[in-house]
Amino acid sequence: MVDIWQNAMDHAVTIARRAGEVVREALHEDRKVMTKSSSVDLVTQTDQKVEQLIIQSVKEKFPTHRFIGEESVAAGEVCELTDSPTWIIDPIDGTTNFVHTFPFVAVSIGFSVNKQSEFGVVYSCLEDKMFTARRGRGAFCNDQPLSVSDQEDIKQSVIATEFGSSRDPEAVNNIFTSLRNIVSLPIHGVRGAGSAAINLCLVASGCVEAYYEIGIHVWDIAAGSLIVTEAGGILLDVEGGPVDLMSRRILAANNTTIADRLIREIQSFSPPRDDAPLLPQ
Ligand code: IPD
Ligand code: CA
Ligand code: CA
Ligand code: CA
Repeated sequence: MVDIWQNAMDHAVTIARRAGEVVREALHEDRKVMTKSSSVDLVTQTDQKVEQLIIQSVKEKFPTHRFIGEESVAAGEVCELTDSPTWIIDPIDGTTNFVHTFPFVAVSIGFSVNKQSEFGVVYSCLEDKMFTARRGRGAFCNDQPLSVSDQEDIKQSVIATEFGSSRDPEAVNNIFTSLRNIVSLPIHGVRGAGSAAINLCLVASGCVEAYYEIGIHVWDIAAGSLIVTEAGGILLDVEGGPVDLMSRRILAANNTTIADRLIREIQSFSPPRDDAPLLPQ
């Protein structure tokens, strides 16, 4: 079978590496830090520069393809996933980390056709780790195959989550309620890399059993979510039921046993939606 997206994937890897060099060079330079939706929603000129670099370079090679890019959406472009071949770009996933030189910063490039992920590339540029996945062909880090943890016991697990950039008191309260429930199961620990894409790659690598977050966007998870499923993991909505990458919520886990246990704790603060059936108990 002709592999029609291999060229696009190769280009994504090349451009992610080039973008990572720009991020590394900018890390210790003076940065003008701006804010977007709130005082903790940061953006720098490097975020904008890297997104333009990726989009321009892809446009030259694939002029008919569409884009969803975080900073383009922030500048007023529509965030709409259609059936067309679409590059879903987070130029710097972990901008707060970048601003504080906390060493987990990724360039994330997802690619979807007919609303189905075809490949995902996450370059953790300060660690120099290139995570890649092609639909049906496995997930890799620096060309080594990845697989999720085989842990089935939540009490033996480490769970990743994030506080995101909302400081709305109710949202913050919900985050702490779910965390308190989960930690007191008890579990081994809670982690958060400060980058949704890297958290997903940590699930794919078997370093954490699961990652969940409410408030993320499609560009945070488009690439990493395929890396999780290609490493043998699962994706669900945080209240159970199928994940919708546009819904701003995700639960990625190594298996349904761990996911099911987490969903029960997360549900205790958030009533299930009518259209989100629970996993079978
Ligand atoms: C953020 C990071 C963070 C997550 C936020 C995202 P950004 O992306 O992935 O870990 O908690 O929800 O917005 O703004 O650094 O690209
Ligand atoms: Ca951002
Ligand atoms: Ca992001
Ligand atoms: Ca970003």
